[in-house]
Amino acid sequence: MKHLMSPLDLSVEELDRLLDLANDIEAHPSRYAHSCEGKKLATLFYEPSTRTRLSFEAAMLNLGGSVLGFSSADSSSAAKGESVSDTIRVISCYADICAMRHPKEGAPLVASMKSSIPIINAGDGGHQHPTQTLTDLLTIRSLKGRLDNFTIGLCGDLKFGRTVHSLIQALIRYPNIRFVLISPEELRLPDNIRDGVLKKNHQDFHEEVRLEDALPQLDLLYMTRVQRERFFNEEDYIRMKDFYILDKEKMKLAKEDMLVLHPLPRVNEISVEVDDDPRAVYFKQAQYGVYVRMALILTLLEVEGC
Ligand code: CP
Repeated sequence: MKHLMSPLDLSVEELDRLLDLANDIEAHPSRYAHSCEGKKLATLFYEPSTRTRLSFEAAMLNLGGSVLGFSSADSSSAAKGESVSDTIRVISCYADICAMRHPKEGAPLVASMKSSIPIINAGDGGHQHPTQTLTDLLTIRSLKGRLDNFTIGLCGDLKFGRTVHSLIQALIRYPNIRFVLISPEELRLPDNIRDGVLKKNHQDFHEEVRLEDALPQLDLLYMTRVQRERFFNEEDYIRMKDFYILDKEKMKLAKEDMLVLHPLPRVNEISVEVDDDPRAVYFKQAQYGVYVRMALILTLLEVEGC
């Protein structure tokens, strides 16, 4: 049985097939409307979510399946002290596949070891968010036609932003990717990604503090929110939270075909005035998240489309 803990759990060939399937689902949704009839998805969310949980649920409903689950630890027996291992053994009796978000790094991996159904990591602490990466890759490939030969700026909270950690690991497998890491000193990429992934793989990257200095060279700009929930004290968060604000003025520095992505939720880091710019694709990105999660559910359940 296959689980998804990290984007690297899929080979480049498997990933290509998954993205092809997602594009086919986008083009022919009715072909897949009954593919998961009789199947159930459990969404176990121990941390808040809008997009990931609801796009997983929409994905399963679009496939003709059903959903069950909880959206906070407080509304589950975790509040009474039940372990993730015990919970998943029980959920395995109720559902065919499970998406789990948890504040502790590695919790979905622990669950996968006790599970008799496929487990999808829907975000574990500051560690990984592989289905956001699938969403990001589908967005880039669909709108740019390729996943190679890009200069990509990753901007904001690179320390705690798990979407960035997963995206870097996925993109280094494609040729001629150059990373520009844009963050304040305190929110730089952690050593396990900078040294353990980028340097170890001789990846081309450099670090910038000013967004304005990076913008003119970028083909893609991936903005992220400062992750308030991972800070140890509120003062540091308040000092950092508005460090970057992408607005119309700054967009004038960017290439005419640069895409702006953001995993969302956005706080202040992209001014709403940018939303009407055709280069702003973060709401399209959220839509791609449904298609790619449909493709992932079909793949992990080994269900064919019609
Ligand atoms: N992008 C993302 O993970 O959003 P949610 O936290 O709303 O799921």
